Amino acid sequence: MNRQRPSHYIHGSSSEEQRRLSTLNELINHSSFEQMNPRRGEKVLDVGSGLGQFARMIARATGERVIGVERDRDQIEECRRLGKTYGEEDLLEIRPGDVYSLPLSVDEWGTFDLAHARFVLEHLDDPAVAVRGMVRAVRPGGRVVLEDDDHDLLRLWPECSGADELWRAYCSSQLALGNDPWIGRKLTALLHAAGAAPSRATWVFFGASAGEPTFPVYVDNLIGLLRGARAHIVDQGLIDEGLFEGGLQSLVEWKKRPEATFWYARAWAEGRVEG
Ligand SMILES: C[S@@+](CC[C@H](N)C(=O)[O-])C[C@H]1O[C@@H](n2cnc3c(N)ncnc32)[C@H](O)[C@@H]1O
Repeated sequence: MNRQRPSHYIHGSSSEEQRRLSTLNELINHSSFEQMNPRRGEKVLDVGSGLGQFARMIARATGERVIGVERDRDQIEECRRLGKTYGEEDLLEIRPGDVYSLPLSVDEWGTFDLAHARFVLEHLDDPAVAVRGMVRAVRPGGRVVLEDDDHDLLRLWPECSGADELWRAYCSSQLALGNDPWIGRKLTALLHAAGAAPSRATWVFFGASAGEPTFPVYVDNLIGLLRGARAHIVDQGLIDEGLFEGGLQSLVEWKKRPEATFWYARAWAEGRVEG
């Protein structure tokens, strides 16, 4: 039965947000790929697949078409456009659908070698339901891989005036929507509760120091993410407009500091489906 739930996805799918997500993919896909280590012949399900860049990367390695599930029409359209642009439309079958009710046929359940979700569970009011669906989709012996944020981990040094308040307001906006800004630490427990056997957890570094070419890209991603959530943060009264703009301006200035480091990590948890 289809379960329709309201969307709590804070970032939306404007073209500016899609550019941010695409750049973010270019920045982190290699590290996700390294951790996942997909093998030739594996059949993979990517849940909340967004623009499909990571799904296509997986498919290049496995030699098998990845099934992606995505709810937002604009993301699906852009995902298809990107696939075509790179001549890789055969690598990903993108299915419109909801992670709460995966659009799989009767004979597909329990057949995937691997199900993956990145930056999706944090936006759900009931992530346990989504993880149960992922576990059901995977064959005995297969893997479920969850990657997500734990927003407490962000450390900017030297301190960036106003950034902490802004980050806290952003986390509060997630909470107000019924999302979980601290889901990262709970990923293994979610796998366990869904019946998978936890097998590995790690943090994947997400940051850089000044002097690394990726440093400004990480800071710009943070600025873009906050800007995109402005309506949820300022209009909801979680921070004063002046403090919001001041915090963003501080980040712009902070990006120029030669001694700065952006310290963050995403949580990674893996479980095995038992027979
Ligand atoms: C932050 S993006 C991450 C996309 C991709 N996993 C990645 O790492 O690049 C989260 C994606 O999940 C999608 N999404 C959010 N809630 C969803 C749901 N209930 N069902 C399917 N997709 C959902 C959003 O539309 C968005 O494209």
